[in-house]
Amino acid sequence: SDEALVIFTPSGKRGRFAVGTPVLQAARALGVDLDSVCGGRGICSKCQITPGYGDFSKHGVTVAPDALSDWNAVEERYKSKRGLIEGRRLGCQAKVMGDVVIDVPPESQVHKQVIRKRAEARQITLDPAVRLHYIEVVEPDMHEPSGDLERLSDALRDQWDIARVTCAFPVLAILQTALRKGEWRVTVALHQSEDSETPRILHVWPGLYEGGIYGMAVDLGSTTIAGHLCDLRTGDVLTSSGLMNPQIRFGEDLMSRVSYSMMNENGAAEMTAAVRDGMNRLFGQVADEAGIDRNLILDAVFVCNPVMHHLFLGIDPYELGQAPFALATSNALRLRARDLGLDVHPAARAYLLPCIAGHVGADAAAVALSEAPEKSAELLLVVDVGTNAEILLGNTEKVLACSSPTGPAFEGAQISSGQRAAPGAIERVEIDPATKVPRFRVIGCDLWSDDPGFAEATAASGITGICGSGIIEMVAEMRMAGLVDGPGLIGSPDQTGSDRIFQDGRTWSYLVHDASASGGPKITVTNRDIREIQMAKAALYSGARLLMDKFGVDKVDRIVLAGAFGAHISPKHAMVLGMIPDAPLDKVTSAGNAAGTGARIALLNRRSRAEIEDTVRRIHKIETAIEPRFQEHFVNASHIPNAVEPFPVLSG
Ligand code: FES
Repeated sequence: SDEALVIFTPSGKRGRFAVGTPVLQAARALGVDLDSVCGGRGICSKCQITPGYGDFSKHGVTVAPDALSDWNAVEERYKSKRGLIEGRRLGCQAKVMGDVVIDVPPESQVHKQVIRKRAEARQITLDPAVRLHYIEVVEPDMHEPSGDLERLSDALRDQWDIARVTCAFPVLAILQTALRKGEWRVTVALHQSEDSETPRILHVWPGLYEGGIYGMAVDLGSTTIAGHLCDLRTGDVLTSSGLMNPQIRFGEDLMSRVSYSMMNENGAAEMTAAVRDGMNRLFGQVADEAGIDRNLILDAVFVCNPVMHHLFLGIDPYELGQAPFALATSNALRLRARDLGLDVHPAARAYLLPCIAGHVGADAAAVALSEAPEKSAELLLVVDVGTNAEILLGNTEKVLACSSPTGPAFEGAQISSGQRAAPGAIERVEIDPATKVPRFRVIGCDLWSDDPGFAEATAASGITGICGSGIIEMVAEMRMAGLVDGPGLIGSPDQTGSDRIFQDGRTWSYLVHDASASGGPKITVTNRDIREIQMAKAALYSGARLLMDKFGVDKVDRIVLAGAFGAHISPKHAMVLGMIPDAPLDKVTSAGNAAGTGARIALLNRRSRAEIEDTVRRIHKIETAIEPRFQEHFVNASHIPNAVEPFPVLSG
């Protein structure tokens, strides 16, 4: 017959095609994901496929040795010059001659799965906004007076079916040279964030460009700025790096920065300059670490809380400092990176995720994108723990969001022996309930304090303080060891039977470690420290509890702790403190920096941008400040674990 059956694996898509149809064309017709940059000219090798020969009883076909056409001159030339893996063919050159089974290897798939370790989280399908297209442009002549850009647009229309394009202004300056240097063959980087938006030419290279194009996913936090540099062709993260937000010098927390802008004439502008300067240093740092030219960064996605959002954009955050906390805009933003003062490719794009509300920012939207509560059959509580906790509660039925002011205690601030997470900080604690003696581990050392060799192993860093996750474990362990009661008071030596308790003004304190003999600090927990943690955890819990009220439930199925800090919290200790609602411990997991992951998803999959914009529109925002129940929950939650709520898993 003059038709043949073509079956593609792993997709399983199949169809009948006229003998002589190129494999790439058959793939296109069936919607099989097979890459091509050169448009089927046999030079980019993106379309590689592996034909299978012999008996495929599973598919009901037998593939004859001559099921594909012989190697033509183009394919031969490619193989001899550049080499091809044994068994591979170029899909644009090999033609279907008989029934055949064709495997598309992962590297030939455009929309490949980007590996994400957590099975329960949303998986990422690669579909970046910026892609490369190779084209051959008609030369100008005296009778056809159109411009080079117009003929280039025609080529995109004829060779790639791209009906309309716009051109980023900086491209015009390099276009003519590139066309002539490439002898009318060029590769363009085309940006298309959504189907509705006209694609935009961001760059043009002479000939077939085989180098990389990159994107940055950035989580702009009040304390740190963290970025992932991604290869837009593979979805791989090349480097991740971070730095302190230089705005810290204007105020530790968000509200102090808002008041700095209120009290200083150019306050907001100074902070905008500082954060943009920091951002540029971060871009330079990751580009250096990955050994790439920062001019090849063509796309960037940013997530941040509303105050950072406004300051990064150059908007005075004044309105965010007072009720009703109106944002200049809550919509997602599509900008030129240059408009944000970024020193990257001059035509590079920037995308900011939408904000959920005046208190719940694009960082929370990114967490929603990463954890996908709206796709969860189970009722999922997501808590992003920082100086402000962003809380999401939802399932396929609906999603609620709020933020709760936990303050900086979880970052070790306002805690007498508190410090940021760094080598030498106590991060894990156990207190023997009988002897009340603590054993602990510090960041940068795998040994416990009572292991042999601990003193030597920590000699360099010293034992310098307690970090946020350490203080949570400490207070929970003190409660379990009977050193602290439900209302949060440290007992006297008589009440507790511990000689580590000492008088400290009008209250009692607990001695954790005395390093003063070796010139180090005395690490203690004071009753004020306990108080700070009680306030912070009560804020977090009441926010979650309020969302549960609004949802009409008194328990949740699953809890995800997000945030750089959330990743280090022990679920058991968080529950002992009553920081999160009671749930089976195996249903409490950590998502690491979910906001950063959300930024990476939006960078690598352009469709996810429209998706999160839609989700955010449907999220119900709860404003904790005007909810009377919040205060009530807060008072109850100040107790450890809680004055009224049962914690059956803990007691069981
Ligand atoms: Fe470029 Fe086949 S599509 S080599």
